[in-house]
Amino acid sequence: SAAEKGGYPSFMLKEIAEQPRAVADTLLGRIGPEGTLTLDEIRIPARELREIDKVVIVACGTAFHSGLIAKYAIEHWTRLPCEVELASEFRYRDPILDARSLTVAISQSGETMDTLMALRHAREQGSRVLAICNTNGSTIPRESDAVLYTHAGPEIAVASTKAFLTQLVACYLVALYLAQARGNKDPEGIRSVIRDLAGVPGAIERVLAGMEPVRELARSLADQDTVLFLGRHVGYPVALEGALKLKELAYMHAEGFAAGELKHGPIALVDRGLPVVVVVPSPQGEPLLHGKIVSNIQEIRARGARTVVIAQEGDTEVVPYADHLISVPATPALLQPLVTTVPLQVFACALATARGNEVDQPRNLAKSVTVE
Ligand code: G6P
Repeated sequence: SAAEKGGYPSFMLKEIAEQPRAVADTLLGRIGPEGTLTLDEIRIPARELREIDKVVIVACGTAFHSGLIAKYAIEHWTRLPCEVELASEFRYRDPILDARSLTVAISQSGETMDTLMALRHAREQGSRVLAICNTNGSTIPRESDAVLYTHAGPEIAVASTKAFLTQLVACYLVALYLAQARGNKDPEGIRSVIRDLAGVPGAIERVLAGMEPVRELARSLADQDTVLFLGRHVGYPVALEGALKLKELAYMHAEGFAAGELKHGPIALVDRGLPVVVVVPSPQGEPLLHGKIVSNIQEIRARGARTVVIAQEGDTEVVPYADHLISVPATPALLQPLVTTVPLQVFACALATARGNEVDQPRNLAKSVTVE
């Protein structure tokens, strides 16, 4: 009903708008004043956390994309090797796991069959399992050794938005907690990122306040057949997520690529007028990759692409090559997906609406896939 949607035309728009709150709620009570984390839910004692020698993340759909981003953070902050795998593939493999492995199962619903089976498969090999979940008491947390709940609140729209951002927050918390427990060569750096997390809800708020041009752009692209998404580093999974949202909601052909792969295929798709969304890393945080992606944007533009560039505020270098520029507030490089994902959600939602689609219940999709 209209009342349930809180005055928004769809649950999806309501849930997109709720993201600053969802992120704040997921951080609540977990960050101490000195930039230290308290995650009592992770009942694994510090001594055992120090013995972990490998992290394996399993998930499906949008939750899988949060895992792909988590890998960059976990490896960088903890120096632990981290693998991320689609639960539907992992469960049929012979993964190499033991009691020193930590398997992280990420699921909004806590009921996705493949993710549940993947976690059982990991447990059979002796791995510890930590769930990141949005649904209290659901099956995946019940079958895990520990659970870190995301506090996004109920997510009704089939396409995941606020649950995704809170999954990311939970992944960052796990990574930073492991770094804190195991020691990091730059403890002040870790505390500083923890403090930066507290500023993220405000940053998302600012992104949301500037979304009218994105909606306008989306409406102007309603007749397109294809949209490509490019990213590097943590922007690569963001590109995958942007493309997934467009498939789910707008029923358009959309693909996400690692920008470094352009010359290995995707550039052959670039033709006059093709919209290409590029997620640009922070010029300060990732100067090398920033330079590389600026050349990628020049390359596709020279071949006629219509470039939609998502970049950090004050990034003047990209301006000459952006047909459409979407600015996001500065964050530490690894946290950038928390702000760059938001315009892509708004974009997909507006494009779907412009094409006459029902955004809360896309055709053929279910909120939770509890069968095979
Ligand atoms: C379905 C939903 C997606 C979701 C995926 C995984 O495909 O439509 O939005 O990302 O399942 O769901 P889970 O509940 O395990 O996060």
